[in-house]
Amino acid sequence: MTQHRGAWKNRWTFMLATAGSAIGLGNIWKLPYMIGVNGGSAFVLVFIACILFVGIPLMMTEIMLGRRAQKNPFNAMQQLANEANASPHWKYLGAMGMVAGVLILGFYSVIGGWVLSYITLAFNGSFDAISASQSSQNFESLLNSPYLLVSWHTVFMVMTMGVVARGVSSGLERANNILIPALFAILLILLGYSMSVGDMQAAYQFMFTPDFSKITPVAVLSALGHAFFSLSLGMGSVMVYGSYLQRNVSIANTTICIALVDTLLGLLVGLAIYSLVFANQLTPNAGPGLIFQTLPIAFGHMPFGHLFATLFFTLVAFAAWTSAISLVEPTIAWVVENTSVKRAHATVHLGLIIWMIGITVSLSFNVWQDVTIVFGLGIFDTLDKLTSTIMLPLGGLLMALFAGYVMQKHHRQDELNLGRSYYTAWKITNNIIAPLAILMVFLYLLGLIG
Ligand code: TRP
Repeated sequence: MTQHRGAWKNRWTFMLATAGSAIGLGNIWKLPYMIGVNGGSAFVLVFIACILFVGIPLMMTEIMLGRRAQKNPFNAMQQLANEANASPHWKYLGAMGMVAGVLILGFYSVIGGWVLSYITLAFNGSFDAISASQSSQNFESLLNSPYLLVSWHTVFMVMTMGVVARGVSSGLERANNILIPALFAILLILLGYSMSVGDMQAAYQFMFTPDFSKITPVAVLSALGHAFFSLSLGMGSVMVYGSYLQRNVSIANTTICIALVDTLLGLLVGLAIYSLVFANQLTPNAGPGLIFQTLPIAFGHMPFGHLFATLFFTLVAFAAWTSAISLVEPTIAWVVENTSVKRAHATVHLGLIIWMIGITVSLSFNVWQDVTIVFGLGIFDTLDKLTSTIMLPLGGLLMALFAGYVMQKHHRQDELNLGRSYYTAWKITNNIIAPLAILMVFLYLLGLIG
């Protein structure tokens, strides 16, 4: 066994890295379009509830499991099960997470590629005074070109695996320091612009006016899945980051900060986008292309738009990059900690597998548009739904059950180190509310399939 593990320098670097994992395309690309596809405020409210009652407690759980074991998710679950005299099969929970990470990065990297290509479009002034239909055309021509999609996906993969090969806790933590605040700053500029020219009132109404009649089972299913996706939960990203964390850091405070920043960021992007959507008579349910079709219109008409657009897509690319890294770290940590294979070597091999998955995803937007995998879903949709609505919640459910019912009580108390009432709150949400919510959603899914 070779044991070579990185460690965060302090609490702040852990927090930035975990925030870097959480903040990504999920907030800027996925949340806004899911709000539109799932009926606006109905989805937003359920999503916020999922973050509070499922996401936050399970994020604490996942960090806690990682830090207790100080190992990659597979070995961590094995060791924790051993400590608790439980079945060794718990280790397969770690294995499922690795597979989920690979599948997610398979499509994540393609969307990361879209963002990279939009940096060059922005830089070349392609958005100047652009109309809504021109903007949609720009996006269509990107999607219709397998060559462009695969090329940009390749660039994104090389960037991601390049960092992973070096080791996560050495290179990237410094970058996060500047990136996240910068992303917030430019978002505020965008929001200010949307407020002045867009229809902020309509956007606000669309996103926040409670209309419980619009809450459908599918909206609940998607909201729960997205809570996991947005906070990077259920597959071991957060567990492996927690395993590099020192013992003296408060898990609860860190988690709450990250969850708040992550959720706020996504909702602000949503407001900025929908106020433009309504002012330009665009449709809210445009799907995955939403930000790529709407934001250029805003940038194309604002003073210094050229500059802001380039900066914005660059920051989004960075955010996606720091998230992508966390998707493969569990697998790489597993290889490095269990075999004599070198980190760089493992990274290249895993990178090639994911790259190939990404090629099929790229083709699913054009030449393989009509290829369906299951239930009439294309390649991209299959990967997305399989991971977000099944694998991540299942992983989260099992982690919650393990932490709540299998792990020794004094171990979880030691790690969480919470006052009495906070501990009770964690326990009720982790042991009862979150598992029930996930189970209910699964039962509904089974009904759909059955
Ligand atoms: N949370 C990231 C985002 O919002 C994506 C991500 C990174 C992720 N690691 C993950 C999603 C682990 C699920 C599981 O963009």
